Amino acid sequence: MGLQDNLHELTRRNEQALQGGGPARIQRQHDLGKLTARERVDLLLDPGSFVELDRFKTHRCTDFDMDKQKTPGDGVVTGYGNIDGRQVFVFSQDFTVFGGSLSGAFSEKVCKVMDLAVKTGCPMIGINDSGGARIQEGVASLAGYANIFHRNVLSSGVVPQISAVMGPCAGGAVYSPAMTDFIFMVEDTSYMFITGPEVIRTVTHEEVSMQELGGASTHNAKSGVAHFASPNERESLHTIRELLSFLPSNNMEDSPVRPTSDDPNRRDEKLNSLVPDNPNKPYDIKDVITTVVDENYFLEVQKDYARNIVIGFARLGGRTVGIVANQPAFLAGVLDIDASVKGGRFVRFCDCFNIPIVTLIDVPGFLPGTSQEYGGIIRHGAKLLYAYCEATVPLVSIITRKAYGGAYVVMSSKEIGGDVNLAYPTAEIAVMGPDGAVNIIHRNAINKAADPDTEREKLVDEYRRTFANPFKAAEMGYIDEIIMPADTRPQLIRALDMLHNKRDKNPPKKHGNVPL
Ligand code: HXC
Repeated sequence: MGLQDNLHELTRRNEQALQGGGPARIQRQHDLGKLTARERVDLLLDPGSFVELDRFKTHRCTDFDMDKQKTPGDGVVTGYGNIDGRQVFVFSQDFTVFGGSLSGAFSEKVCKVMDLAVKTGCPMIGINDSGGARIQEGVASLAGYANIFHRNVLSSGVVPQISAVMGPCAGGAVYSPAMTDFIFMVEDTSYMFITGPEVIRTVTHEEVSMQELGGASTHNAKSGVAHFASPNERESLHTIRELLSFLPSNNMEDSPVRPTSDDPNRRDEKLNSLVPDNPNKPYDIKDVITTVVDENYFLEVQKDYARNIVIGFARLGGRTVGIVANQPAFLAGVLDIDASVKGGRFVRFCDCFNIPIVTLIDVPGFLPGTSQEYGGIIRHGAKLLYAYCEATVPLVSIITRKAYGGAYVVMSSKEIGGDVNLAYPTAEIAVMGPDGAVNIIHRNAINKAADPDTEREKLVDEYRRTFANPFKAAEMGYIDEIIMPADTRPQLIRALDMLHNKRDKNPPKKHGNVPL
C-alpha cells in the first residue's frame, strides 16, 4: 500500500472509531438520557485538549466468531487532556461497543493510562458504563480486571482517582470504582451492585428494582458507597471538574491556590449568636462553615450519608482545606459507625494529598445502643481515631460546644496530633454530659437527699460551672486559645498560615494496620 492508500485507510479507521457501535446504538444511548463515551470526555476536559491513545486497538478473541466483530478502540476511549489547564488521564467506557464490556485489550488500554497517570503525577478519571466482564473472553477478561484493581491500589494515595458511574457497573467490576477516592453517580441512569435484582429474587426472595438496589440515591444516602449524585451527566462531569480544582495533581504537590478577594480578616458578628445558649438546641454547623470560608463556597462530600458528620472541601485565604464537622442539627452530631467511617476515610484522603484539615467539634459522644455495639462501633469508631492519629497534615480545630468523652479525643485533640486547638467560649469539655456524670459520681448523695430532684439539679449546676466551659482545658494547655466566634475566619487563616510549612513524619514502616 502506498501513502495515499494508507491515508484512506487512516480516514476510514478514524471514522469507524469515532462511530463506536454505530448510529443505532448511539441513538439508544441518547434515548436513555445518556451521552456517548466521547461526548462525556469532551464535556469533562477543557475544549480541544483531549489526546487519544490506542484509538485503533482491537481485541484478540477468536471464539464465538469474535474475530469477525472488531471495532477500533474495543469499547473504551482512553487518553489525556486538561481540566482548568492541568493534565489528567481518562478512560471512558463505550456502552455502544459490546455493552462496554471489558476484554483483555480493553484492560490493557485502561492500564496504560493508569500507569501514565502515576508516572506523570496526574489525576486519573474513569467513566464507567459497562456490562462487566466480556463474556466471550472468559478468564482473559477477569485477569484484565485484576490488572486494573492492582493498579487502583498501587495508585491510591499517589494520584487522586475519581470514578464516574454513568450506566451499569455490576458484579466484581464495582471494585475498581470502590477502590478509587471518589465515586460520582447520575440519578436514574446509573447503578452499581454486586448481584442484581434477578439473583436477589432467586436467592433471598426479595423484590427490589435496579434503582432501589443500586441507584445514585441508594449509594449516596444509604450505603455510603458513592460521594456525589447529580441529576444528569453534564452536571456530574462539571462537579468532577469542580472537585479537582481543590486537589493537588499528586501526593508530592500542594493544591492549587485560587486567589480570592475575600478578606482574610473578615469577621462576622452573626457567628457570635449562632451557637445556642441551650446545649440541647440544634443549629446547623454548615452555617459556620459557609460563613467562614472563601466566598462562602463549600463543596460538600457525601452530603446525604451519615449526616451527623459533615465533610467537604473549601478554601481559606485561597488555599484548599478539608473540613470535618460534627452536625448538631442531625442526631445531635453524635458519632456512630457510619459517621466514623465517613470521617475517617476523608481524613485519610486529605492526609494522602497534603490537604490541611479543619475540624469543627460539637459532639455529645458515641451513639449508645445494641445495634451500634453489635455492628462494631468499637472497630469502626477506631477508624476515625486512627485516621487523625496518623495524619501529618496541618490539623486545626475549634470546639464550638460539646466535646465529650472519647469523642473529644477522637476529633483532632491535641494529644493525637492537633496542631492548633481553638474553642469558642461556649465550649464544654468533659468526660461526659452533666446528667450522666452527676448520676454516677453523686448517686449516693442524690438518693439520700430529702428532695432528690432538687439535689440533682443543684449538682448538675455545679458540674456545669466546673466543666461546661473551655477554661479548665485552656488552663491546662489542651486548648491553645479561646476565640470569639466572629473571629473564626481570621483565626483559622492565621493558624493555617503558621502551619503552612509543617513537616511531620510518622515512624518508618511498611504500612500501618488500620482497623478495617
Ligand atoms: C459481552 C455484552 C455484555 C458482556 C452486554 N453485552 N454485556 N457483551 N459481554 N458482559 C452486549 C450485549 O450483547 C449487547 O450487544 C450490548 O452489549 C448491549 O446489551 P443489552 O443487553 O442489549 O443492553 P441492556 O438491555 O441495556 O442491558 C444492559 C445489561 C445487560 C444489564 C448490562 O447487557 C447485562 O445484563 N449484561 C451482562 C451483565 C453481566 O452479567 N456481566 C458479567 C458480570 S460479572 P448488541 O450487539 O446486541 O448491541 C463481572 C465480573 C467482573 O463483570 C469480574 C471482576 C473481578
